[in-house]
Amino acid sequence: GATRQDELKRAVAQAALDEIAPHLERDTVIGIGTGSTASLFIDALAPLRDRFLGAVASSEVSAKQLRDHGIEVLELNSVGRIPFYVDGADEIDHELAMIKGGGAALTREKIVAACADHFICIADESKWVPQLGQYPLPIEVIPMARSYVARELVALGASPIYREGVVTDNGNQILDLYDFPIPQPKAMESRINGIVGVVCNGIFAHRGADLLLLGRTNGVERLER
Ligand code: A5P
Repeated sequence: GATRQDELKRAVAQAALDEIAPHLERDTVIGIGTGSTASLFIDALAPLRDRFLGAVASSEVSAKQLRDHGIEVLELNSVGRIPFYVDGADEIDHELAMIKGGGAALTREKIVAACADHFICIADESKWVPQLGQYPLPIEVIPMARSYVARELVALGASPIYREGVVTDNGNQILDLYDFPIPQPKAMESRINGIVGVVCNGIFAHRGADLLLLGRTNGVERLER
């Protein structure tokens, strides 16, 4: 049967639906993330498919799940406003900065999130941390720059590990930084983005979440930035 964590994920997925349902219009496009929590949100959203236009997905996996539910998947360049982006996180702190990209979808997630008016993060309480960095921080790199970027990250004090066998939806590779505490998320996000060959990194601080729906054993907590 479902674990306790699965139940918390299901509860926050439902809470996100309750949050956006009153705002759905015939022309609404919803941004949708990637991962097991986002997947539960897609399942929850499916019965409402006739009340909005469609979705923009942050990964091929989520796009397929949406289509399988009969929800139209739109290309980001063909849509205007995205009122809501709903996604999980690997870690989230008290300022609603996040580490994301455990599923290697970080770049598309960051792009869709940047286009959205409101980022709603759905997470079980295991993701809630006092400081980012326990979870390995993913960096998407252009394949030919991988070794160079790794050396630059070592100079920053990190221990990058190549996520072997993984190719992102954009045809790039992933380096993960283990045991890399991030006391200043915004500064570190900018710093890593400044390395040539880095496409994107998994710190979501400049564009953090606007609303966190945190699944706790005694209910869903609602935290706004
Ligand atoms: C995907 O690349 C990540 O950013 C996800 O948001 C993250 O891995 C959360 O996944 P779960 O909901 O499965 O924990």
